Amino acid sequence: MKRHVIAAAAAGLLATGGAWAQSVEVLHWWTSGGEAAALGVLKKDLEKQGVAWKDMPVAGGGGEAAMTSLRARVTAKNPPTAVQMLGFDIQDWAKQGALGDLNALAAKEGWDKTVPAALQAFSKHNGKWIAAPVNVHSTNWVWANREVLAKAGVNAAPANWDAFVDALDKVQKAGFVALAHGGQAWQEATIFDGVVLATGGVDFYRKALVNKDKASLGSDTMKRAFDRMAQLRKYVDKDFSNRDWNLASAMVIQGKAGFQIMGDWAKGEFINAKKAPGKDFLCFRVPGTQGMVSFNSDQFAMFNVGAAAQDAQIKLASAIMNPSFQSAFNVVKGSVPARTDVPDRAFDDCGKKGMKDLAEANTKGTLVGSMAHGHAVPASVKNAFYDVITQHFNGKMDSAAAVKAMVQAAE
Ligand code: GAL
Repeated sequence: MKRHVIAAAAAGLLATGGAWAQSVEVLHWWTSGGEAAALGVLKKDLEKQGVAWKDMPVAGGGGEAAMTSLRARVTAKNPPTAVQMLGFDIQDWAKQGALGDLNALAAKEGWDKTVPAALQAFSKHNGKWIAAPVNVHSTNWVWANREVLAKAGVNAAPANWDAFVDALDKVQKAGFVALAHGGQAWQEATIFDGVVLATGGVDFYRKALVNKDKASLGSDTMKRAFDRMAQLRKYVDKDFSNRDWNLASAMVIQGKAGFQIMGDWAKGEFINAKKAPGKDFLCFRVPGTQGMVSFNSDQFAMFNVGAAAQDAQIKLASAIMNPSFQSAFNVVKGSVPARTDVPDRAFDDCGKKGMKDLAEANTKGTLVGSMAHGHAVPASVKNAFYDVITQHFNGKMDSAAAVKAMVQAAE
């Protein structure tokens, strides 16, 4: 094509707000198979609206590395359009005045009526919507390979902690890895969410890990929780150290391991591997936490961007909150919709159970924020808890020392 024709075509595209005129840059840590598949749904939605997607993936489960990259970008006065973010981290950035105002869109689309209060506590700052919640994950789940359990003589989901340990023992004795695990602090902390709930219940979890009550953090109940973490340590394989979470999920998917204790993003890996709940795998709450939900919501925090980028940013926020998107995305991601007005029709049995559990826990007051995933305490305290939990899991301190260290971590 002649140079002048190309220029005219480009001008035309720009003038009509074509693909080149609008783009969004999104920082996230969704780099596993299931996560990338889910994110693909959002990318396609934006491209259909003529908004190009500039991907900024930063690998590292739980998002620690992503938050480090973000700080560098903001320091360089060049923030992404939107960033995947968890709970208290959103509030920290809002306090720094780094986030944009979504109130006009929220009012137009009625977000206040459809997003649960537990999420709004993080999506808004000083009454202003600053993030768009795409889902609700929960961490107190166990994923099990049905065939491995059958071969080990385990015929149903263990109903309580002792039955769970007995089942782990049977699977190990049958020659399989009993507990598939990735030795990273955030993964040990994810297990810890469920173990504290199973050992002390919701009130104890809230007092210790949300309110940082020193008596609870240093209590016998907390010591018992650490003793249970030490029990689990005996059921992981010798190569667990620093394994990525999705590779641990793959061990269960491929029948090398019996169980994984992980948030329901693990379900996204089973779905991505074309496995079916009930037939290939079981999903059940960490034994002893039935009726309780420790949740974390993935929200896209919208950063202050220049006027030129705002229209695309609003299109992104609106696409994230679109009910049919929230169904399509969450079916693939393993989470449940952030909005309460999305039917569970498209979800499989585990997804339907997740939505039912969340609604019930919300009503019964047994819904707590996941400490491991930034919904119980700010990052500084969360990371201090991480250090104690992972040092204990790796035998660097015993349970008595761990509870003392938890009290210090809270200070
Ligand atoms: C969580 C996040 C999930 C998934 C998981 C593993 O914090 O909410 O969407 O990314 O980390 O990386």
